[in-house]
Amino acid sequence: MRGLFITLEGGDGAGKSTQIRNIESFFDKKGLVVVHTREPGGTPISEKLRDILLDSGNLEMHAVTEMLIYAASRAQHVRELVKPALEKGHIVVCDRFLDSSIAYQAYGRGLGDMVDIVNSYATDGLTPDITFWMDIDPKEGKERVSKMGDFDRLEMEQMDFHYKVYGGYKALSEKYPGRIKRIDASKSVEEISEDIETHLIELCSRKGL
Ligand code: TMP
Repeated sequence: MRGLFITLEGGDGAGKSTQIRNIESFFDKKGLVVVHTREPGGTPISEKLRDILLDSGNLEMHAVTEMLIYAASRAQHVRELVKPALEKGHIVVCDRFLDSSIAYQAYGRGLGDMVDIVNSYATDGLTPDITFWMDIDPKEGKERVSKMGDFDRLEMEQMDFHYKVYGGYKALSEKYPGRIKRIDASKSVEEISEDIETHLIELCSRKGL
């Protein structure tokens, strides 16, 4: 038996955390075990790598170094936590996964195909069953983040970087329309929850859950 692997994606300030809690309660009500995790992070080693990646003092980090550390964090997370949980039949809800590396490193940093090649080793062939792309205009996302406090290293990037990331997500959603569901994150929290729930109900009926 294999569980479900659900990922949430989007620019900074898209409101992923609130929706992750709603997804958790959707599956809780069905009596299924939900594992909530995140990238970069999710295991002790991957969380240490997260600290390096997001440290606003690490401004001299090269784009290739950055991409490799995200991939290293993912390689550990997939093998130590995500795959074992899926093998137990659990529902894994993950805040960001490979699509973030494509959007931020391939498109945002301009690293292109190198990101796919490296990450084919990191993911060990794992693909989400469904991905919610929380679509928010980068300017609005930045305004939301600025209300929450200090910027991390990625959030400190200029707007043109965030627009490139946005272009990456848009391209991914067009390339994988079956897996990636675009969610209009400018709507109210309640409306967004309903949109996501509609997709989850469809997914569960397809998977016999
Ligand atoms: P967050 O967990 O607060 O969303 O922060 C993670 C940051 O790292 C966010 O700005 C997106 C970025 N990121 C990448 O650039 N590449 C990746 O592969 C992942 C997982 C995240």
